[in-house]
Amino acid sequence: MVGGGRLTGSVRVQGSKNAALALCSAALLAEGRTTIRNVPSIVDVDIFMQIAAELGYRTAYDGGDLEVSEGDRPTAEIPGELGGRIRATACFAASVLARRGRVRFPLPGGDRFCERPIDRHLTAMRLAGAEIEQAGSYLSARLRGHRPHPFKFSAATPHGPSLGATITALLLAATADGTSLISDPSPEPEVHHVCGLLRRCGANIRQRFDGAMEIAGTRGWRDSMYEAPADPSEAGTLALAAAITGGQITMCGVPPSVVPDGFRSFLAGAGTQLTATDAGTAVVSSPGSERRPVLRSLTTGPYPSFPTDLQPLASVLLTQLAGRSTVHDPVFERRVSHVEGLRRFGAHISTHGGRIVIEGPARLTGASVSGTDIRCAAAYLLAGLVADGESTIDGTYHIDRGYEDIVGKLVSLGAQIG
Ligand code: UD1
Repeated sequence: MVGGGRLTGSVRVQGSKNAALALCSAALLAEGRTTIRNVPSIVDVDIFMQIAAELGYRTAYDGGDLEVSEGDRPTAEIPGELGGRIRATACFAASVLARRGRVRFPLPGGDRFCERPIDRHLTAMRLAGAEIEQAGSYLSARLRGHRPHPFKFSAATPHGPSLGATITALLLAATADGTSLISDPSPEPEVHHVCGLLRRCGANIRQRFDGAMEIAGTRGWRDSMYEAPADPSEAGTLALAAAITGGQITMCGVPPSVVPDGFRSFLAGAGTQLTATDAGTAVVSSPGSERRPVLRSLTTGPYPSFPTDLQPLASVLLTQLAGRSTVHDPVFERRVSHVEGLRRFGAHISTHGGRIVIEGPARLTGASVSGTDIRCAAAYLLAGLVADGESTIDGTYHIDRGYEDIVGKLVSLGAQIG
């Protein structure tokens, strides 16, 4: 790819990767057919379909609609070479456990930018009545009864509430033999959407005034349909691409709230506004010389704070702003996989304990780098958009895991990517 040039034009935002995968987990609970709409065509969804097939489900994907229904030969084993490639494996396993009373699954894979324990998922399974054994990188869980027991569970971790463990607990509770309570649930939108699908299938879920969720378990699930929301991470990536190049784009059919408030405030502080238009959301960036770093520190947090997944990409924008900025990611304290590669582009970026320090503005020059996870690879793509000369980004497998066609979209907005 060759950097330089402002991005302009209109672009559609794909369906949410994380919401689609969470909804896929819930679809594994259903006795009938579940249709999930607006599912992005990405490698992680393809891996889900392969896992579902191994578990004896039928799946069909057509134009963004994903249908999941139970087949004739159910099994309870998630193969290591598939489950070890995706983070949602623990949630898939929770559904299989709830539905079939046992499951064998590998430790989840996906982005390995730092240690990502699944202790809260396993606690939820144990509280629901499972006995769990680990042999090497495989876990086997077996319920003592036919259905999960009702349970009380907290999704809190030292780094904030766990999204994945909240989903795991919801899936177990939705089929339990009684009423369960999940305290400190994750406030991420994925939780809201999974509750939406579970309710349509027949589950009774109530959020209490203190935020805790009460779930009355049920069986006899109905056929159902649910539409995945637009992807905040892809929308954030596109907005940052416009901001970094001093461009002006429209994200069609989505409101500015497609990205969390914390992200919008950050962009506004960096001179880029997101405003609602008839077509969707206009992303308007002021030209480079006028941009001033109003926000000198960026801290991630649960929704609606600045999302951890956009931190590596926002770091690229900070390299282009005047002055010193610091980035702190308490959700994943060692999420610094992008730092080394950005240095190769000529960014003045370093790590100090868990913090990233960036001195700007830096003139980036073309580099050959390899992305090691989805957002790290996407951050390099953004750096390549403003770097002088030619850049080569390897590790695009990771980009394909989470983005449907980000390269095609950037090219349609004027980027030179071959
Ligand atoms: C999900 C998203 C990921 C996003 C993250 C935080 C998917 C497929 N992935 O990951 O894109 O970056 O939410 O919004 O939806 N933790 C524990 N024990 C556990 C589980 C988590 O200590 O059992 C910790 C994690 O290490 C982390 C924090 O809790 O520090 C939040 O992680 P969590 O919300 O669980 O992230 P994921 O669900 O894995």
